[in-house]
Amino acid sequence: TTYNVGYIVGSLAKNSINRKLAKALIKLAPEKLKFHEVSFADLPLYSYDYDADFPEAATRFKADLKRSDAILIVTPEYNRSIPGGLKNAIDWASRPYGTNSFARKATAVIGTSPGAIGTAVAQQSLRSVLGFLQAPQMNAPEAYIQFKPGLITDDGEVTVPETEQFLRDYMEEFHQFMARVLTVLPRDA
Ligand code: FNR
Repeated sequence: TTYNVGYIVGSLAKNSINRKLAKALIKLAPEKLKFHEVSFADLPLYSYDYDADFPEAATRFKADLKRSDAILIVTPEYNRSIPGGLKNAIDWASRPYGTNSFARKATAVIGTSPGAIGTAVAQQSLRSVLGFLQAPQMNAPEAYIQFKPGLITDDGEVTVPETEQFLRDYMEEFHQFMARVLTVLPRDA
């Protein structure tokens, strides 16, 4: 079985270290995982005024989530939480009421930061949001990646072998996790 994995990069920055991490994770993932980016860059700021008539960007965003068997969120930590753009995107995904795109979707969260705690606080904050949205989350392994200059190249090559192996194992665990989730919660699509 192959699985379609949607990945969300929480940063909009051109030289995002989290985008480098996402590239690395895709390269190191088991072959049976097929990846597509679920981008939130085009979304306006959410308000429930849009619920009656969703803009095309939001409809597309939700469709990209819907066709995903699992979602990988690779996010920076901004001010000890997740970036506003990512929270905005999740708010869009959760609405209109009754169409929560994260419900029953296997998720994993990971991130990197130059700081020593490697996005731990942002990930904790994201976990409460995903919990509220009834998204099954991989609890372990956790991954708090401190980004030292050169750790991951622009092409997504990990230059430290131990980190490379850790990230490969992380993706193997995610593969097994989504397989378990999909066994009990098959996709309705
Ligand atoms: C940061 N940064 C940061 N780092 C961290 O470990 N904890 C934090 O709370 C914050 N807060 C924060 C706020 C804002 C507004 C910015 C712009 C940055 C530093 C951050 O980890 C660093 O800029 C990374 O490069 C961000 O990841 P991306 O966007 O490059 O993927």
